[in-house]
Amino acid sequence: MARGKILVVDDDPLILKSLSELLRLEKYEVSSASNGLEALQVLKDQPVDLVITDINMPEIDGFKLLKEIKGRYPEVIILLMTGFGTIENAVEAMRLGAYDYITKPLVDAEIKLIIERSLEQQRLMQENESLRQRLGEKFHFDNIVAHDYKMQKIFETIKTIADTKATVLVTGESGTGKTMIARAIHQNSGRAKQKFVEVNCGALPETLLESELFGHVRGSFTGAFRDKVGKFQLADNGTIFLDEISTATPALQVKLLRVLQDKEFERVGQHETIKVDVRIILATNQSLEEEVAKGNFREDLFYRINVVSIQLPSLRERIGDIKLLAEYFLDHYSKENEKVFTGIHEETLKIMQSYHWPGNVRELENVIERAVVLAKDVNRPVLPRDLPPNLQTQEIKEQPDDRILPLKEALKDPEKRIIERALRANKWNRQKTAKMLQVNRTTLFNKMKKYGLLTD
Ligand SMILES: Nc1ncnc2c1ncn2[C@@H]1O[C@H](COP(=O)(O)OP(=O)(O)OP(=O)(O)O)[C@@H](O)[C@H]1O
Ligand SMILES: [Mg+2]
Repeated sequence: MARGKILVVDDDPLILKSLSELLRLEKYEVSSASNGLEALQVLKDQPVDLVITDINMPEIDGFKLLKEIKGRYPEVIILLMTGFGTIENAVEAMRLGAYDYITKPLVDAEIKLIIERSLEQQRLMQENESLRQRLGEKFHFDNIVAHDYKMQKIFETIKTIADTKATVLVTGESGTGKTMIARAIHQNSGRAKQKFVEVNCGALPETLLESELFGHVRGSFTGAFRDKVGKFQLADNGTIFLDEISTATPALQVKLLRVLQDKEFERVGQHETIKVDVRIILATNQSLEEEVAKGNFREDLFYRINVVSIQLPSLRERIGDIKLLAEYFLDHYSKENEKVFTGIHEETLKIMQSYHWPGNVRELENVIERAVVLAKDVNRPVLPRDLPPNLQTQEIKEQPDDRILPLKEALKDPEKRIIERALRANKWNRQKTAKMLQVNRTTLFNKMKKYGLLTD
């Protein structure tokens, strides 16, 4: 089956031919047109998922074609090809509703990736739209498995703030779902049809990060071979998601402060000020308060960022969701690997519920995927032996015994066990344990003393 129908439009016959061939090899159904009129005729005759068009063409140029198509067939994705150094064109194209742009000379791998991503995005949007219509729901949290009340409270917060412009700070350990929540905020906002642009601030050195965020002009530094549109500009009218914000250097912090305050910035190597309308969401797995206290993070920036904060619980703080999540991932990976399992064995579940999950939901997802992929026999439940060795050696929490004791004695035991378990889950960090158990640190200390749990 074809992966999608693509219409290629260019007045240069060589490009038309090579691009069509490339896409056919990628199993797309391809039509071609050598000018705008021909393109509109093709669209009239047959359904098309995606149009990739040149900008400079006689009579109807790429922009006119873009407007025509957007007016008549709003669901069609449009990608524009722009020549070297005509970045302003690209920005204009995106404003008019192009999904993305590709710079010439064309690079095969880049084209393949952009097309794949665009079609996937379109498919998801259509699926979500039809799902939402069926449910008659205004808000939707697709594919987020979370019954725990802490997560339910987070959904409530998202519903309240999604459609505002408020800056949101999402915190949580690695793998707790920060990126997923940031996307959910965007999807539930009035900007849902606009772009959601992600930047991992920890992944790039300072100078590159600056040009990634704000863009640069050709020749502004060694290696700047062409103009580049920054992510803030690409996200105009949409949402930008800045991950690992705690890694931002002091110089970058100053620039971010300005964008947060005034929504304006300059490209590297250019004086002209650019203004944008973006919703900013940030994430960190470090405590920004601590970084402020240590003098690594500007306090004024912190207050700008911390307008609405969403703290995602670690997986060990929502043990009740482990079963649901494991079943959800099992369902997903069984289908993907075409293997049938009859569920998750009780013993397996017990082990998973006692484990401390330093990698949180992502680790759980990996554990299930691994179990499915490695299983040689199927039509059985997921067993302890399917788990990675570090989980198999995990000590399972003792089951309560049913001896009858004096009430006062009997009540001590579960309290001790709960505290011990919480301590273990938090690697014996008392502050975190106290927070998890919702008692103050003195109470926790006294109880630890009472039960002989003090280690020092
Ligand atoms: N509640 C959930 N329901 C379903 N899947 C989830 C849930 N939470 C997280 N996941 C999945 O777990 C993985 C990790 O989530 P995500 O990337 O959002 O975490 P993160 O906090 O952004 O991690 P990092 O700190 O590494 O950036 C993803 O594959 C995501 O789909
Ligand atoms: Mg993330």
